[in-house]
Amino acid sequence: MLNPIYRTIYSLGLIPVVEIDDSSRAEVLARTLIEAGLPLVEITLRTPAALQAIQSIRRAYPNITLGAGTILTLDQARQAASAGADFLVSPGLPQDAVEWALSEGIPFLPGAVTPHEILQGLRLGIEVFKFFPAETMGGIAAIKAVSDPFPSVRFIPTGGIQTDNLSSYLTHERVLAVGGSWLVKRQWIKNGQFDQITAQVKAAARVVQSLSRPALT
Ligand code: 3PG
Repeated sequence: MLNPIYRTIYSLGLIPVVEIDDSSRAEVLARTLIEAGLPLVEITLRTPAALQAIQSIRRAYPNITLGAGTILTLDQARQAASAGADFLVSPGLPQDAVEWALSEGIPFLPGAVTPHEILQGLRLGIEVFKFFPAETMGGIAAIKAVSDPFPSVRFIPTGGIQTDNLSSYLTHERVLAVGGSWLVKRQWIKNGQFDQITAQVKAAARVVQSLSRPALT
């Protein structure tokens, strides 16, 4: 049974992957995304401000779907969850963090691009993988090839995805959603260019809505 968080992610189709330098901008960032029609964000733990940003977003918008990305250790997984993250994301598969999250009922989206990595994740109970870096690893052709032996597996590709190439991913039955930093550029948050975020999100959402996507089974 797919976790309800993944159903929400599927229905929105897009995960903005965010690097934030100033947590005081987190609330306005979340409001901008919600008002643009995308009540979902992944804050990566790549900046010192990230955990505080997650806390601020959770406090201001209890219903937003909130992810914490770049989880490399068990400690980070615990910290992100107590800051208010609904789901955790990693570029790889930190086994102790994955096991802990699943035991707590928190969806964990680990990175996997090879059959070996997918098999490791499956054994831990993972149902959806981050396919990263998607474009560099061969794009949708690579996802098709690697998913053949694993009929239950779904992917959220990230890495090099933009509004003009997301269609080829999102129309494939194994792809739950796409993610990327193109929706919310770090510089736009820094410069307070929230109108750019609105425009980018709306443009991408229009493409998603125009696609005939395979139903979620
Ligand atoms: C991620 O962590 O998912 C990636 O940094 C996103 O890749 P992108 O910056 O190429 O969108």
